[in-house]
Amino acid sequence: MKHEILEKNIGLMALVMMLAVSIGGLTQIVPLFFQDVTNEPVEGLKPYTALQLEGRDIYIREGCVGCHSQMIRPFRAETERYGHYSVAGESVWDHPFLWGSKRTGPDLARVGSRYSDEWHRAHLYNPRNVVPESKMPAYPWLVEGTLDGKDTAKKMSALRTLGVPYSDADVADASDAVKGKSEMDALVAYLQVLGTAVKNKR
Ligand code: HEC
Repeated sequence: MKHEILEKNIGLMALVMMLAVSIGGLTQIVPLFFQDVTNEPVEGLKPYTALQLEGRDIYIREGCVGCHSQMIRPFRAETERYGHYSVAGESVWDHPFLWGSKRTGPDLARVGSRYSDEWHRAHLYNPRNVVPESKMPAYPWLVEGTLDGKDTAKKMSALRTLGVPYSDADVADASDAVKGKSEMDALVAYLQVLGTAVKNKR
């Protein structure tokens, strides 16, 4: 019996099992690379403006992703709390994506327009200002940090090579759009747009 050879050779069996499992995995994974639902932006999605893009970089610099996910899972407990679950078409232009995996604080995937700009400023300056029991760190230096816009156009051009549809005018105006704005302005602009393309479906 040929099967006996397999059953009596654990190494060979492990190898053949791995082969079977990877074929199973690949038939599920590979099609995702070619499907519109994972590759096409959701309707109404706009690339980040220059200011939002700089805000996103501050979000990365300050390590917000270490405490906040941006990925609402399709479970009732999550959608009741945060809104419509995250879909792939929302992050097609996020390079790198910031889905995260740690939730010391709440998920931020749909935080956009949930609070006023003033709330975010007060909260980021010192979270205890608005949420007395908060253990989120304070980020007072964001008010003093000023953007010079030196690299904004370059960042946009780089993203364009990855398929983000910035126009020539977007790139040309990028520096002026952020110059002189505070890091706080940029971060709040970024937070306020998060998840808004899908929000209305909630
Ligand atoms: C050490 C963990 C930690 C870090 C780092 C952190 N946060 Fe938080 N964040 C929290 C916690 C805990 C809460 C819930 C209490 C509160 O609202 O302050 C929170 C709440 C928030 C909220 C309100 C969310 C909601 O739906 O009510 C926003 C917005 C937010 N954080 C943004 C940020 C940003 C932007 C950064 C980076 C500059 C950041 N956080 C860094 C822990 C963190």
